[in-house]
Amino acid sequence: MTDITALEAEILGAISGAADEAALEAVRVSALGKKGTISELLKTLGGMSPDERKVNGPAFNTLRDRVQTAIAAKKTALEDAALNARLASERVDITLPVRPEPVGSIHPVSQVFDEVVAIFADLGFSVAEGPDVEFDDYNFTKLNMPPDHAARQMHDTFYVAKQADGSQHVLRTHTSPVQVRTMLAQKPPIRIISPGRTYRVDSDATHSPMFHQFEGLVIDEVTHLGHLKWVLEEFCKAFFEVPKVELRARPSFFPFTEPSVEWDIRCDRRGGEIKFGTGNDWLEVAGSGMVNPRVLENCGIDPAKYQGYAFGGGIDRLAMLKYGIPDIRSFFESDLRWLKAYGFAALDLPTLDGGLSR
Ligand code: DAH
Repeated sequence: MTDITALEAEILGAISGAADEAALEAVRVSALGKKGTISELLKTLGGMSPDERKVNGPAFNTLRDRVQTAIAAKKTALEDAALNARLASERVDITLPVRPEPVGSIHPVSQVFDEVVAIFADLGFSVAEGPDVEFDDYNFTKLNMPPDHAARQMHDTFYVAKQADGSQHVLRTHTSPVQVRTMLAQKPPIRIISPGRTYRVDSDATHSPMFHQFEGLVIDEVTHLGHLKWVLEEFCKAFFEVPKVELRARPSFFPFTEPSVEWDIRCDRRGGEIKFGTGNDWLEVAGSGMVNPRVLENCGIDPAKYQGYAFGGGIDRLAMLKYGIPDIRSFFESDLRWLKAYGFAALDLPTLDGGLSR
């Protein structure tokens, strides 16, 4: 007859001595597996007399239960230990102080990106993105500029070598293809803003081959030029941080809008400084218009049911105006002395309530 007490002590000893989960599993198999000691013991019940079974049955079952409980407890303990060891080995000391000296700062273009997004987010716009290397189709054709359209010439395009399948890519010449991507992917109502990099073969004090634009698009069942004007006015007030602005509309032409309007902001340029909201000078801030029904059609939106407005402008230009930077090329020269003069404090995100540029 097996000494149950001794067997239990032996198995519990093995359980507590198991150094890892594999060792514990080996103990479990040797006790509770098909040929394990406890399983074999339980099998002997069948050959016993009813009286013997009455005594041994509960004893064997209790033994099995205790061993199972001990194994489960040990398993949890081993898992905890493994997790703690991992946490200890991957520990990162976040108590180190930030470096006291102000190294690094935010580039004015990044700052204006953040300001534009903060303002439009407050007006209910979400941010949309598209790639810098864009389909010719999205950059031009779907925006109502088919291959031979004269307006393409104005874009001074960087073409990318044709793909094996004959498809043509370009470095996007404006952020307007993000309109196309958004309309193809999303059903109206649409209300997006998209700041990003753009490229044209052009370089002088006010043009850089790589520059930045922001694009806005609103598509809904009822939209009109009045909404567009209000949105741009709110934007200009917030961006130039003045209580009042005056915008002037000029008729214009863009293939992707009809009618098309360019907006100028009233300003005062006397004395080499620009003041917004007063004065007798006008500065262009954005191109815009009601989205051409052909563009809606090209992007799978029913022009009989929906219409919308779009606008776009230069981020670098806004940064130059607001922060008094005379030459666009200085943005991209990576001159640390320049960045020290024009950069913004890191970790200080612009917000409407906390202040855009402080
Ligand atoms: N994509 C135009 C450009 O680069 C700017 C623009 C004009 C965008 C009118 C618009 C718009 O969305 O409606 O010159």
